[in-house]
Amino acid sequence: MLSVNVTNPVVFPKSRIKGKVRYLSEDDFNRVLEIDKACFNPPIETTDIKEHIEKRNGIGKVLEVDGVIVGFHFYQLENNKIQILRLAVDPKYRRKGYASKMVREAYRKLSLKRNILCCTVSEYADGAILFFKKMGFIATSVSRNAVADNSDGYCFRLVLAESK
Ligand SMILES: CC(C)(COP(=O)(O)OP(=O)(O)OC[C@H]1O[C@@H](n2cnc3c(N)ncnc32)[C@H](O)[C@@H]1OP(=O)(O)O)[C@@H](O)C(=O)NCCC(=O)NCCS
Repeated sequence: MLSVNVTNPVVFPKSRIKGKVRYLSEDDFNRVLEIDKACFNPPIETTDIKEHIEKRNGIGKVLEVDGVIVGFHFYQLENNKIQILRLAVDPKYRRKGYASKMVREAYRKLSLKRNILCCTVSEYADGAILFFKKMGFIATSVSRNAVADNSDGYCFRLVLAESK
């Protein structure tokens, strides 16, 4: 397995993108499932969402802009890192900075103890790979069959900058 040292502390610029990142509620499930279906194969199901947000360390949030949910992210708080499990923006609303806004929100949850933000991205998800690179993440290893469609995944990591 490829493994390299991560030395990429970056400071995320303040987001000027409008909209609010908020916790998702049951009322949002259908919209989240709709976006997920447009973004992933296989898509998640209602039970996956429930299981995730009912976990002690599972966070599920949506980004709402002018009353429309344009994207969502699910992440997990672990001992020394935050693992982004799912990040998706409705294809109609891409390249407007919405995923950046959500990633910034997760980044702001980092602390001295939990100082790494990471996400495993399918080797075939070209747009997402470019997105994480643009955000300053570094691919530190490859995980075999790590993605739900059994593809290999690049493990992207971003380390907390001293001032954020
Ligand atoms: C990856 C994803 C979340 C990005 O969402 P987004 O809201 O379009 O991303 P942003 O607008 O914040 O992009 C920020 C920058 O990342 C880069 N970027 C994002 N998507 C890109 C693409 N498809 N091609 C090239 N660069 C891209 C660009 O530099 C972009 O800035 P610019 O538009 O000013 O050039 C979205 O494409 C998506 O939902 N993909 C499918 C799901 C997925 O693979 N999720 C990730 C793994 S869980």
